[in-house]
Amino acid sequence: MAPHQRALLLLPLVFLLLLLGPPHADSWGKEGHIMVCQIAEEYLSEKAAAAVQALLPESAGGELSTMCPWADQARWHYHWSSPLHYVNTPQVCNFKSSRDCHNSRGQQGMCVVGAINNYTDQLYSYGQKTSYNLTESLMFLAHFVGDVHQPLHVGYEEDEGGTTINVRWYRRKETLHHVWDSDIIDTAQKDFYNKSMDIMVEALKMNLTGGWSDDITHWENCKNKHATCANDYAIESIHYACNYAYKDVEQNITLGDDYFFTRYPIVEQRLAQAGIRLALILNRIFDGDNADDIPLQVQ
Ligand SMILES: *[C@@H]1O[C@H](CO)[C@@H](O)[C@H](O)[C@H]1NC(C)=O
Ligand SMILES: *[C@@H]1O[C@H](CO)[C@@H](O)[C@H](O)[C@H]1NC(C)=O
Ligand SMILES: *[C@@H]1O[C@H](CO)[C@@H](O)[C@H](O)[C@H]1NC(C)=O
Ligand SMILES: *[C@@H]1O[C@H](CO)[C@@H](O)[C@H](O)[C@H]1NC(C)=O
Ligand SMILES: *[C@@H]1O[C@H](CO)[C@@H](O)[C@H](O)[C@H]1NC(C)=O
Repeated sequence: MAPHQRALLLLPLVFLLLLLGPPHADSWGKEGHIMVCQIAEEYLSEKAAAAVQALLPESAGGELSTMCPWADQARWHYHWSSPLHYVNTPQVCNFKSSRDCHNSRGQQGMCVVGAINNYTDQLYSYGQKTSYNLTESLMFLAHFVGDVHQPLHVGYEEDEGGTTINVRWYRRKETLHHVWDSDIIDTAQKDFYNKSMDIMVEALKMNLTGGWSDDITHWENCKNKHATCANDYAIESIHYACNYAYKDVEQNITLGDDYFFTRYPIVEQRLAQAGIRLALILNRIFDGDNADDIPLQVQ
């Protein structure tokens, strides 16, 4: 068979796989990632925004947010990247990089925290000769900063971050992991934002200039001056996982209003935090020494 004939035969399979979507343990759903990056874009310094523009592929239409779900598709051809979306703990409510950050073969650093540091490092070579594909580095980084803020991306090994915990979300069968990736966001959009992601993003941006404005300094506070604070973000996430995501949940439980109304504020805050921190990381990378003087303001 000629190669192009073989390729044609493969096409239906590719479409089927696309329809089925990635296997369990994807990340914030597509919308979560887009929202994180839409928030980040608003807080980029001029220099950082220019570097991001220069790195984005043409298909991005000049918007980082359109590329932020990319890493979930990339898992299909970059199998090694799958473990970079999350990190698990041995059923404890704390995170230790040396203990937890590895892939199933025990390779150190192969987890979401290591990945954020890895792709940050790579992007520091922007403007110099480098063997890395910095377009991919940027798309990975933007995605993983989102993921590390999803509490169940820093969950327990035993239940794969809530993937093996079956629940009902109102009437629908879901996994606990999926509830935190997508369902809480969907229900919030339905209940509060006229089913619109754009309205939800606007509301989050409003809160950042309003009720949350005093918190931003804390969120961007990062002891680690040059690298990232991904380690701290993972520690926060496992705390939220224990105190909110897993709390009072058992197999086959039905989760409804009680759960939703006490958890959606956490989800909204994590999306906003991820956006602010992604901007902070990119400003530091691309705006060098000035970055710490850049007030985090809407440009
Ligand atoms: C770092 O990035 C390179 C290039 O994408 C990749 O091969 C490697 O697995 C990454 N390691 C981590 C820990 O992210
Ligand atoms: C860099 O990665 C992007 C996305 O995978 C790809 O489209 C592009 O061709 C790559 N560039 C180079 C020079 O390999
Ligand atoms: C909600 O969205 C619908 C279309 O989806 C629109 O017709 C309606 O005006 C919107 N309502 C508000 C309050 O924005
Ligand atoms: C959960 O429900 C499934 C069937 O939907 C059942 O097989 C399983 O035993 C139940 N597990 C628990 C712990 O109740
Ligand atoms: C966002 O702001 C609105 C309006 O001020 C407020 O009602 C809401 O509680 C805030 N959301 C969060 C999660 O702080």
